[in-house]
Parts: sequence; structure tokens; C-alpha cells
Amino acid sequence: MKAVILAAGKATRLRPVTLTMPKALVPVANKTLIGYAIDVLKGAGLTDIGIVVNDLESSIPQTLGKGEGLGVNLEYIVQAEQLGLAHAVGLCRPFVGDESFCVFLGDNIFQDKMQPLFKSFENSEIEAAIALGEVSDPTRYGIAELDGDCVARVVEKPKEPKSNLAIAGVYLFRPSIFDAISRIRPSWRNELEITDAIQTLINDGRQVCPYILKGWWIDAGKPDAIVLANQLVLEELPYTPAPEDKGRIIGRSEVSHRVLLGANSQVIDSVIRGPVIIGDNTIIRNSYVGPYTSLGDNVLVEGSEIEASIVMNNCIIRDIPGRIDSSLLADNAQVTAAQRMPATRRFILAENSYVQL
Ligand code: G1P
Repeated sequence: MKAVILAAGKATRLRPVTLTMPKALVPVANKTLIGYAIDVLKGAGLTDIGIVVNDLESSIPQTLGKGEGLGVNLEYIVQAEQLGLAHAVGLCRPFVGDESFCVFLGDNIFQDKMQPLFKSFENSEIEAAIALGEVSDPTRYGIAELDGDCVARVVEKPKEPKSNLAIAGVYLFRPSIFDAISRIRPSWRNELEITDAIQTLINDGRQVCPYILKGWWIDAGKPDAIVLANQLVLEELPYTPAPEDKGRIIGRSEVSHRVLLGANSQVIDSVIRGPVIIGDNTIIRNSYVGPYTSLGDNVLVEGSEIEASIVMNNCIIRDIPGRIDSSLLADNAQVTAAQRMPATRRFILAENSYVQL
């Protein structure tokens, strides 16, 4: 079975971070979101993967290449215009050919590795299978209504939801989905919805089966959701003893277990309480780094406190009063105190930036 990962979305809800990087490359516990999708597919034995991007010059192909480093074969499919998920899937027809295939939304992250879903589908009579997870706000998702072991109806973002089972970002299809896609019309949000194509299969009398997800599932489309995903992934870090390397843990420092410290990174006169992941060449001086924090490469945290946050590469956090919490800093961001009087606040913010003091 082949797989396609959809990663061409505009990601407007994650601006300004996504003004300069595609959502699929946003790091969660220092690994890209799309890296988690690839891991699930690889774990299920799917190594021929097409990634739908909006441009071949995008940093996704530049970063992942042909997948050699990840142990998978990657190909890229361009969706130049964002006309909806069903449109993106339709473009994958030449890539998948006559095989069954998996569609994985590149911004969804799962605790469940879903191997039983993949195993049971291939040799079954089922026309499509969809992963479902319970949500508290069903109007924001595609929602499925079940009838016994089958999916009876699916509706995209219903105003009056009949269930709280949301369509999570993993679908298994047979080539019949392409004919269904060719018969749907754009939705109220002017997109070709994959949910409508699935409903077309159901209307044709085809069997669509649910797979109820175990554990957490996050549609990491917004900053809060990314920060939450980071916490959930770090929570699962296996036990590792407190690092004791005297060359890197210096002065009056206290570093707990479940702290992963990258190459050439140093902790100087600081307290770090795991679970925390720290990239390479990062310096933490006279600071506190609390649970559920991911710091990237070449970061400086000095005279500050931070927890439950994601700090990407080459960031500087210096002399900030109070604790930074639940924050998301993209590459090269700086948060520093005024170096001289007057102690003013100064902001240079991109569109959709968010500061809470
Ligand atoms: C898309 C799908 C929706 C699904 C959701 C899961 O929504 O259209 O059916 O429940 O992904 O993340 P969108 O992210 O486009 O609002």
C-alpha cells in the first residue's frame, strides 16, 4: 500500500510562524510534525510515500529530500492551488495507480500507531476506513455518524452535529475514491471536501468502516494545539537518568532525569526539570527551564524562566522577568529585556503576532 501526506495547506491559523515555514516542518519535541506522520506510516510498513506540497521549491522537499535519511521513498506532488483535501487527493492518482492507499493529514499527530487499522484493511472487502476521535467541539471537524460497525453518514463541520466522533487525519481508500472525488462539488467554504467524497461512497452503497483512535490525537493547526502536542509527546519520553557530564553541566546547576541535552549544549548555573529536550549548541545560563519545554539548536536562554514552550533554532531569550509559559518562538526570534534606560517595551512583530505581558 502506498501513502500520501497532505502538506500543501495555507496554515493561516498558525501565522506568523507559517509565514516563513510550512506547518509540516514546525517542530514538536524537536522533530517535525510531518516526521511523526512518516513514522506512523513506516511503522505500518508503508514506505512509498507521496507528499503533496504547494511548490517544489518549498522547504519540505528541500529538508526531507527523497527520504533516504528516514528510511522511506518520498515523491512530491504539487497542488498549486489550495482547492481542498479532495482536490489534493485527486492529484495523487498517477502516484497511487490501482493500489489501495492511505491519506494522512500532515498536521495531525497521534498517540495511536494504528497498526491494526492498516493490517485489517488490505485484505478486506471494505471500500474505505477512517480514523475517528472523540472531540468536545464537533462543529470544527468532519463528523461521522455510525450504524453498528459501519459509517452511516459523514458531514463536514456540521452546524448541528449528530455525534462527537471527528474524522481524524487518517483515511484508507481504494481507487474508487477518485471517481467519488470527480462527482463532488465545492462546499460552502469553496473547497472540495474529502468528507463529501466519502459520503458519495456511502451513497453508492459502499462499505466505509470506522477505526476508533486510542489515546490522544491533535490537529496541530493552531499555536495552542502545537504547544499541547509538544507536552503530550514529551510526556512519553522514556526515563533517562539525569545527565551528569561535568563539561556541560556547569556551576550551580541542577538537571533532572528525562532531560535530553544535544551535542555541545551547556547548562550553566541553571535548573532544568524534565521532560525537556534541548538541541545542539544551546546555552542555558542562570535560568530555569521547566517541564514540557523543547529548545532547538543554537538557542540562548539567559537570566530567564521558561516552561511548557517550544523555542525553535537560533532564538535568544535574555533577562525576562516572570516565567515564560505556553509560548511558541519560531527560528531567530528574540525576547530580551531593555539593556539601558528607559526600560521600555519594544516590539517588532510579524502579521498575526501575539504578545501577552
Ligand atoms: C480537515 C477535514 C476535517 C477533519 C480535520 C481533521 O479539516 O476537512 O474533516 O476533521 O481536517 O484535522 P480542516 O483542517 O481543513 O478544517
